[in-house]
Amino acid sequence: MDLYSMFCCGRVSDRRERGKKQQTWRVFSLKELHAATNNFNYDNKLGEGGFGSVYWGQLWDGSQVTNMQIAVKRLKNWSNKADLEFAVEVEILARVRHKNLLSLRGYCAEGQERLIVYDYMPNLSLLSHLHGQHSAECLLDWNRRMSIAVGASDGIAYLHHQSTPHIIHRDIKASNVLLDSNFQARVADFGFAKLIPDGATHVTTRVKGTLGYLAPEYAMLGKANESCDVYSFGILLLELASGRKPLEKLSATVKRSITDWALPLVCERKFGELADPKLNGKYVEEELKRLILVALVCANSLPEKRPTMLEVVDLLKGISKEKLAELENLELFKSPQAADYNDGASVAEDSSDFISEEKDFKPEKNEERG
Ligand SMILES: Nc1ncnc2c1ncn2[C@@H]1O[C@H](COP(=O)(O)OP(=O)(O)OP(=O)(O)O)[C@@H](O)[C@H]1O
Ligand SMILES: [Mg+2]
Repeated sequence: MDLYSMFCCGRVSDRRERGKKQQTWRVFSLKELHAATNNFNYDNKLGEGGFGSVYWGQLWDGSQVTNMQIAVKRLKNWSNKADLEFAVEVEILARVRHKNLLSLRGYCAEGQERLIVYDYMPNLSLLSHLHGQHSAECLLDWNRRMSIAVGASDGIAYLHHQSTPHIIHRDIKASNVLLDSNFQARVADFGFAKLIPDGATHVTTRVKGTLGYLAPEYAMLGKANESCDVYSFGILLLELASGRKPLEKLSATVKRSITDWALPLVCERKFGELADPKLNGKYVEEELKRLILVALVCANSLPEKRPTMLEVVDLLKGISKEKLAELENLELFKSPQAADYNDGASVAEDSSDFISEEKDFKPEKNEERG
């Protein structure tokens, strides 16, 4: 019996004990996933990220009248030595369930192939609505944006504070916030860095995170903790409110960060100028202000000044009016040159979208476990 059959057998008895909710998770065969994705046809490809390509597919289950749509992530450059480790890590991630997290539906590990199966999210990602293929349709009205902000913060707070083990996402960005059929946020790709096998020297691992979302201390030292996620989430909130990208090209050689653009406007209390023009002025003023203040507090360059994700959830939900008033009176929002914020430096053009391990640092293993 191979490692996966052993693992799979364990799962079946486990699953019976854990009840119906967990039964949706299973091990897939490669043959099944080939059939579901039309042999990983280029036309089925949803996109490509740091770990491989994602394909749309459909499964025909004999017991179901309709087909089920899935998204299959085909990991690249995988080590065939880390079978059990891979299976164990996927199993841990599969247990993490929350209404605002995209949970795993299963995996496949045969030969050199490692694939992860998710539910297909029909409204794709936040990225596609803000800057991509759906941006012209203007489907993100203010209510949807607010509910995406609150939902995503809830999902990340669950990862940080409630899931066992605690999980640091390390790659919060617009393409990792997927939208279900009701435009509810589902945060994807959490805990992915953990799937990188130990000692797999030929696997090109990269420090998680995309430039523009990376907390300065993580970019410099490679030390990830919850507050790095809070920073990235702050950038994401600014992006959601303004429709701007985390880094904007000012000239051939210089880019400006979204925080450097937003902070002076906030200091002058020009919140309306921060709103995405696509909203056509249709937003709730108080909520816009709340979202932007929270965003900038999260994206503080000093990690100790950032709120926790639980605090972010409460702030976004408007639970505490006093706390919000406190935020508004922070020194940070009095002068754009406030000492404890960004150093104001624009980002040089020659930086690549990803910071890779080739650039000399390696994230610590096991650091996201609490
Ligand atoms: N379950 C899904 N349903 C619909 N679209 C998806 C799903 N999973 C991923 N995608 C989309 O497929 C594309 C590729 O995803 P992938 O996660 O590989 O890359 P990424 O999110 O751009 O980067 P990263 O590797 O850092 O996560 C993205 O546009 C993503 O939003
Ligand atoms: Mg992704």
